Amino acid sequence: MDNVSVIKHPVVDRYLTYLRDKTTDTALFRRAMANIGVILAYHALDDLELDETEIETPIQKTKGYIPGQEVVIIPILRAGLSLVDGIVSFMPEAKVGHVGVYRNEETHQPVNYYHNLPGGIDAALNLVVDPMLATGGSGSHALSFLKENGAKKIKFVSLIAAPEGIEKLQKTHPDVPIITASIDEKLNEHAYIVPGLGDAGDRYFGTL
Ligand code: PRP
Ligand code: URA
Repeated sequence: MDNVSVIKHPVVDRYLTYLRDKTTDTALFRRAMANIGVILAYHALDDLELDETEIETPIQKTKGYIPGQEVVIIPILRAGLSLVDGIVSFMPEAKVGHVGVYRNEETHQPVNYYHNLPGGIDAALNLVVDPMLATGGSGSHALSFLKENGAKKIKFVSLIAAPEGIEKLQKTHPDVPIITASIDEKLNEHAYIVPGLGDAGDRYFGTL
């Protein structure tokens, strides 16, 4: 699929197994999300622009690198927050913006209820973060909102994606690369990802 990177790594498979397993408790679920967030960030930032600088080691002067652009992490509330700790631990200078979108349970249509974006998203590398890409409604909505607010360079970071959600994002935002740890089989009649991991927000926040 164009513009979609699926991370293949044995450790990712182990974390995904914890996350999918319905007997995993909240503490382990949170830890697995944080750890997998680091790996997702490693891949999502693999083309981060760098500027050269000069530093001095205790031995002599040498070349070093600093980010040549700002990184802004934008979790889609609530469940997107589950990956932020991991991503921030990998890229501590990143700014964090927030977009609140939930799915109407009957229509499955996205409803926007909150936003708070830092300045400078027009020049930044923006990582929109949501563990679940199901119908793609929430993701597509969030991406349109960010573009309306000036964002140009955006990547969509998800943990598990349904083919339907990927298709929707590729149609509505073909310029936005998708990074995911798994492309699952399909959506069920309630628009949940199969096999998926259930409701990511409820499992992460313990609100089941
Ligand atoms: C979940 C998930 C995504 C959305 C994905 O959020 O975190 O944002 O569903 O579904 P979609 O691709 O079909 O739009 P939810 O509405 O459950 O809200 P929450 O994160 O507050 O729990
Ligand atoms: N949102 C979730 O949390 N899980 C799904 O499977 C689909 C949407």
